[in-house]
Amino acid sequence: MMHLILFGPPGAGKGTQAQLLVDHFKFLHLSTGDLLRGEIAAKTELGLQAKKFIDAGELVPDETVIGMIKNLIDRICTVPGVIYDGFPRTVAQAIALDNMLTECKEGITALLSLEVPHDELVKRLLIRGESSGRTDDADVATIENRITVYGEKTQPLINHYTQLGKYHPIEGVGSIEEISTRLINKVKTL
Ligand code: C5P
Ligand code: MG
Repeated sequence: MMHLILFGPPGAGKGTQAQLLVDHFKFLHLSTGDLLRGEIAAKTELGLQAKKFIDAGELVPDETVIGMIKNLIDRICTVPGVIYDGFPRTVAQAIALDNMLTECKEGITALLSLEVPHDELVKRLLIRGESSGRTDDADVATIENRITVYGEKTQPLINHYTQLGKYHPIEGVGSIEEISTRLINKVKTL
């Protein structure tokens, strides 16, 4: 089974590319951001708590996000492949995921890291904010905070997976189709 982490800063194109990989390989798309926005839309207690963090461009606490993944573990352990989009976002989340997968005799296959320069990220997120209605895409200050949080808390995952020999950088600039082809070709080599 394939367990692929689609990695990169906010605006790198994880959601777009995850969907294309899922269409191609028929894997399960697991977007914690989408799950959290679903909880907010459904006005659940979890959603109410998470909204404060998301609107500020901060991370939702590890226990909450890890708990959402735990709830899905039976599916995660039985489908032919999973694309993790926006998760794990901290080393603690990565270790929790590694442990959950070990329990069902699975493991992360690769971390595919979309590499996109800072100014391009801000540009893309501001454009997305005009149509997505996402509160966290609406202003430059929140966007910059998300990129800073990514650098502090999420980027260290590159080290974690490099040590495991699972880090694969992918050029994240170009047309959506070009980037998708790069990803699909990489996955075929794994
Ligand atoms: O992954 P995505 O960019 O859609 O996530 C949107 C927001 O959801 C993040 O900026 C963050 O506030 C929150 N989030 C989180 N932890 C995750 C995934 C998303 O805190 N693992
Ligand atoms: Mg996303």
